[in-house]
Amino acid sequence: MAKITFIMRDGSEVEGDAPLGLSVMEIAHHNKLYEIEGSCGGSLACATCHVYVHPNWYDKVLPEDGAISEDEEDMLDLAFDLRKLSRLSCQIIMEEHLDGLIVALPGSKPDWA
Ligand code: FES
Repeated sequence: MAKITFIMRDGSEVEGDAPLGLSVMEIAHHNKLYEIEGSCGGSLACATCHVYVHPNWYDKVLPEDGAISEDEEDMLDLAFDLRKLSRLSCQIIMEEHLDGLIVALPGSKPDWA
């Protein structure tokens, strides 16, 4: 089973199971981490699933064409505390090569975001 690490708002790190094919937002809920709200259910209509992706992983979670969709960019513009490494976690689908992925919640202060 692939793993993912979430850095929570209080700075704690939580490692969870990351079933392949689920989005990172769904994986958070799978691991009972509801601080990643995902109120629109992954339909790019809320930005409550905003996370920072660790720089070692950022390029690896980009879509195949290497660019974030315009819809995601538009929604990210509404996200709280937008940064260079920001993504909407409902748009990152877990695949085998993402085993070990690290994401941080907005409000956390990892030294890399
Ligand atoms: Fe709403 Fe990701 S869950 S945009």
